[in-house]
Amino acid sequence: MKKILVTGGAGFIGSNLIRMMLSEHEGYEVVNLDVLSYSGNLENLTGCEGDPRYSFIKGDVSEPDTAASAIEGCDAVLHLAAESHVDRSITGPRPFVVANTLGTQTLLEAWRQAQGGEGAPFVYISTDEVYGSLPLENPEVRFTEDSPIVPSSVYSASKAAGDHLAHAYHHTYGMDVRITRCSNNFGPYQFPEKVIPLFVTNLMEGRKVPLYGDGLNVRDWIHVDDHARGILATLERGKAGEVYNLGSDNERSNLELTHMILDIMGTGKDMIEHVEDRLGHDRRYAIDSSKAQRELGWQAERSAWPDGLEKTVQWYRDNEEWWRRVKSGAYREYYEKQYGVR
Ligand SMILES: NC(=O)c1ccc[n+]([C@@H]2O[C@H](COP(=O)([O-])OP(=O)(O)OC[C@H]3O[C@@H](n4cnc5c(N)ncnc54)[C@H](O)[C@@H]3O)[C@@H](O)[C@H]2O)c1
Repeated sequence: MKKILVTGGAGFIGSNLIRMMLSEHEGYEVVNLDVLSYSGNLENLTGCEGDPRYSFIKGDVSEPDTAASAIEGCDAVLHLAAESHVDRSITGPRPFVVANTLGTQTLLEAWRQAQGGEGAPFVYISTDEVYGSLPLENPEVRFTEDSPIVPSSVYSASKAAGDHLAHAYHHTYGMDVRITRCSNNFGPYQFPEKVIPLFVTNLMEGRKVPLYGDGLNVRDWIHVDDHARGILATLERGKAGEVYNLGSDNERSNLELTHMILDIMGTGKDMIEHVEDRLGHDRRYAIDSSKAQRELGWQAERSAWPDGLEKTVQWYRDNEEWWRRVKSGAYREYYEKQYGVR
């Protein structure tokens, strides 16, 4: 049995990852370290609490003592804890640097102190956003692991600083640090400030969907289960010091995505509310994941559209109680301020 520390396990990707580790892999024991920020929700892990292979610690990765005690006895770290929403990093940058940059350094240092030398694997869950933005004009160009790191939002810059620290801990101390850079995730339990659950739940409430700018920004959409499988493949078959891009060749403009959601929900284009573009909005992300295919034997399997999107929309339809609770209170205030619409 391997004891794995998962940070940020009460969030969207972390909770799906933990559920997969417990249900599809008998050999993992999971310790979930999560501060339970606005997007951390233990309801995302309903059903896991009773599993003897699961335990939860409420705590902050950027606190050295918390990090040190959480990693005690662990055989590996999957580090996902982060402030994750670009819009929030525009209105309030500081928490991103604390959680994403200082938090990553604190956890790396705790792991170094505990392990000494090369030690056991530390997988840092980064993002394709660290590569910055691609122009729309060259659709054949995609990010590889060797593309320059030129992040353009505070979110991606604070994550990229984590990439650099992870690399530095490998280079300087010889630690077994591995990095994944995945594209945009969709699936169950995503906090409804992110575009897919935001649009679906707005439509269920009879509200319009706020589409940024001209809607032509392109993202590569991957199912959260494929991301989780990629993280586990990196843990099981990845190599120290290596970076693995994880994507699904499923590039869609926000406009196309919006039209697909409207179609699935059976509503008209009049439900689109065009809002001012996000500051510094990256135009296109596209990712070449051939290295992960070659070296990890991984490829996206559950991400194909329209099927994957339809199933995800259905999940939000079937789990109204979950998102209605999440979407109350402070969420409403933030949403109205962000989009200037009620
Ligand atoms: N969502 C995506 O499309 C995507 C794509 C690629 C990579 N990622 C990365 O995956 C990770 C998880 O993203 P997500 O979408 O699940 O985000 P999320 O916001 O849903 O979850 C983040 C979790 O981290 C916890 N957290 C935040 N700060 C913490 C701290 N200081 N200490 C402990 N816990 C803390 C939160 O409480 C929450 O449970 C992030 O590192 C993100 O950068 C996300």
